[in-house]
Amino acid sequence: MPDYLFDNVAPETAGRFSVLEECYDPVSTYQLALTGVTSGWRCLEVGGGGGSLGDWLGAQVGPDGEVTVTDLEPRWAASRSHPAQVRLLQHDIVRDPLPGRDYDLVHARLVLLHLPERLSVLRRLVSALRPGGWLVLEEFDCGWTPVLAAPDEETARVFEHVHATLLGLVEQAGGDPLWGRRVFGAMRQAGLTDLTATTYAEAWAGGGAGIALHRHNTDQIADALAAAGITDEELARFRALLTDPAFVVNSYPMVSVRGRRPAETQEAP
Ligand SMILES: C[S@@+](CC[C@H](N)C(=O)[O-])C[C@H]1O[C@@H](n2cnc3c(N)ncnc32)[C@H](O)[C@@H]1O
Repeated sequence: MPDYLFDNVAPETAGRFSVLEECYDPVSTYQLALTGVTSGWRCLEVGGGGGSLGDWLGAQVGPDGEVTVTDLEPRWAASRSHPAQVRLLQHDIVRDPLPGRDYDLVHARLVLLHLPERLSVLRRLVSALRPGGWLVLEEFDCGWTPVLAAPDEETARVFEHVHATLLGLVEQAGGDPLWGRRVFGAMRQAGLTDLTATTYAEAWAGGGAGIALHRHNTDQIADALAAAGITDEELARFRALLTDPAFVVNSYPMVSVRGRRPAETQEAP
């Protein structure tokens, strides 16, 4: 199993990024705005994926500011044009030296969940902030995705079985599907202050934009799901559900946590 289960070279990546942007960018931009991000700020967007939030930050900081968008695989963000103050960087947040210091704002969405080294990465992100600077982490809590409506009970069971198997694979690859509920405590442990957390979820109906995330994810790891015991029939029924308006499931709740680096925080190596 690779370190990062949903590697971003796969063709399903574009679809996944477009769901994340459509469903969660309004939440993320609202949360980021609450930090007061404004003209002249220096920002770090870690694991920026398709790059939409890096561009939004670029618009807030303007030509006097700077936004560095990192990713292991920056090709998706590179496929769109960016304002001059937005810089893309191929970068591994686990292993490479930090791209800068004294940031006013560091943000990562749905990145640390996948990284076995998430706690040391969190300490590195804190060390990249200026005293008083903001860290905003946004992560899924994959432990609360109840089926809200289904044509019948057996259908709901198939969804839950395939989905639970997928989450098991995420865990085997070093991910933490429940990381969202642990972020606040981990950020407090890392010494951040002024902490707040807000959780967002919505109903995803079959055939809608959000539920397609399940399709992109299961398509990408279909072989691993089969190896974990999911039959072709189960996968076919799961996929059919995702286009059936009678099937409705809770979205992944996204937990947005923000906190500030106090003046006395020690720097991580
Ligand atoms: C689930 S995607 C989220 C993308 C984007 N943050 C968003 O929310 O739309 C996770 C992103 O983290 C990146 N990533 C994974 N491991 C990384 C690492 N070690 N360093 C930097 N980026 C990483 C992936 O390439 C991918 O773009």
